[in-house]
Amino acid sequence: MSRREEDSSGRSDTSYEEPDLYEVLGKYYDVWYEDQVEDTQFYLRLAEQVGGPVLECMCGTGRTLVPFAEKGYEIWGFDRSHSMLDRLTAKMELYDEEVQARVSVHHADMRTFRCPRRFKLIVVPFNAFLHLLEREGQEAALRNVAEHLEEGGRFVMSVFNPRLDRPEELVRHRGTRTMLNGEIISKFEAQTFDRQRRRTTVHYFLDISRQDREMRRVTACFTIRYLAHQEVLELMAASGLEVVATYGDWHGGPFTEESDIMVFVAKRAHAP
Ligand SMILES: C[S@@+](CC[C@H](N)C(=O)[O-])C[C@H]1O[C@@H](n2cnc3c(N)ncnc32)[C@H](O)[C@@H]1O
Repeated sequence: MSRREEDSSGRSDTSYEEPDLYEVLGKYYDVWYEDQVEDTQFYLRLAEQVGGPVLECMCGTGRTLVPFAEKGYEIWGFDRSHSMLDRLTAKMELYDEEVQARVSVHHADMRTFRCPRRFKLIVVPFNAFLHLLEREGQEAALRNVAEHLEEGGRFVMSVFNPRLDRPEELVRHRGTRTMLNGEIISKFEAQTFDRQRRRTTVHYFLDISRQDREMRRVTACFTIRYLAHQEVLELMAASGLEVVATYGDWHGGPFTEESDIMVFVAKRAHAP
């Protein structure tokens, strides 16, 4: 994404290319989310019912993909971030050949991906779908999912339930983690909402310190398109998918307006 920058003297600098969030923060992703396993366990339980092969769209570093392979499922994954995929590939080298052989990873975009096969289970975990900002791209992505889903298969997508009562522009400390190299990372986050365009912009500030070095700060900013429950039902229907259940937690609890998350389970809709 290019952005025309203007400095304080009014001159413009067109050379600035805004980096992808995951190219900037990819190396901190796993240390941050490695203890988040509830969603993966939910997907694995569903796989026990519907079987494989499995496709994880926007698979990132393989936080969810790798456990599928460990459990014996053939799993395909794709992502548009080379940085995230490089981390996944490096991680896979630590597994034995049998596990590695079940994994097939590709560089692709959610709106245009093509696989030479269909899947029993397709998942888009952890708000990844919200990176698609426009309706056209959202529908293209879901139509693509429907085309790659086997008859009787299931598609699962999880996104946060937008709670617009959150304070805006307030910097919140989101926790502190220690990397293997001794770096201590404190993550701060500030959020703003564009209610008209139904988007939220998040600013991350990572303070990285170590006793023997000066502290440095890494910043990143990204905008996502939040989705309301009804909107997702409509999007799915318009794209050839039918939602068969919406959960509000990872234990099969029903979705309510107070739920923090929305977990949609869908199947291919029958042609009229
Ligand atoms: C929140 S991460 C989720 C990663 C992984 N699924 C997980 O649950 O840990 C979102 C991922 O979506 C990827 N992504 C964003 N837009 C994409 C697109 N249009 N096509 C493919 N991948 C995309 C990012 O590169 C990133 O790896």
